[in-house]
Amino acid sequence: MRIVVTAGPTREPIDPVRFISNRSSGKMGYAIAEAALERGDVVTLISGPVAITPPKEAALVQITTSDELYAAVHQHVRDADVLVMCAAVSDYKPTQAATRKLEKQTRDFSLPLTPTRDILASLAREDRSCLVVGFAAETHDLETRARTKLARKNCDMIVANDVSGTDLGMESDYNAVTVFFANGDRKQITRAKKRIVARELMKIISEMIEKRLTKKT
Ligand code: C5P
Repeated sequence: MRIVVTAGPTREPIDPVRFISNRSSGKMGYAIAEAALERGDVVTLISGPVAITPPKEAALVQITTSDELYAAVHQHVRDADVLVMCAAVSDYKPTQAATRKLEKQTRDFSLPLTPTRDILASLAREDRSCLVVGFAAETHDLETRARTKLARKNCDMIVANDVSGTDLGMESDYNAVTVFFANGDRKQITRAKKRIVARELMKIISEMIEKRLTKKT
């Protein structure tokens, strides 16, 4: 199976030394890449800037901004059987990045922001012949918000996690997730090390791929 995994945050430049980003550590995406490699899959790992070491056997594509991630996903998705969009893409970017360092000011300062392009929602029909797996990190109304994203972003499944605490999810080595499927089903993966959660997710993903193949034959 050929799998493309995106991981980590994006950075949206404000000026040459500042950026907008988020707390994503990349740990969940990297664990999924590792779990896929353990199963013998061919892995392309598209990663934002993180402080962890990528698995050697993965083809690593390093990106910084959401626009770079957009281009990398569109380039690699067509050869993939599965796309796992685990990256925490910035929702906004500065409308214009300054070419010179902005001077500190003593009064309030506002920065015009433009929404970034939604990568999952942008995938064309032909890019969706692979299994599309989204992620949803939520602090509240987990199920409603995750199911809305599943439909809006046209995913086959969405992996939702509660990021309201500090002992789970973003930056932590642990996660607990609920997987919502396009057909209305759901599956729960209880709190465990991200390595374990990743293996469970890869089991679910490969079962879905097998089901698809059986349907086609
Ligand atoms: O809307 P939200 O950021 O919560 O959606 C999460 C899912 O959508 C994740 O899978 C994320 O990688 C993806 N996403 C995207 N493009 C964006 C923002 C999020 O593909 N601009």
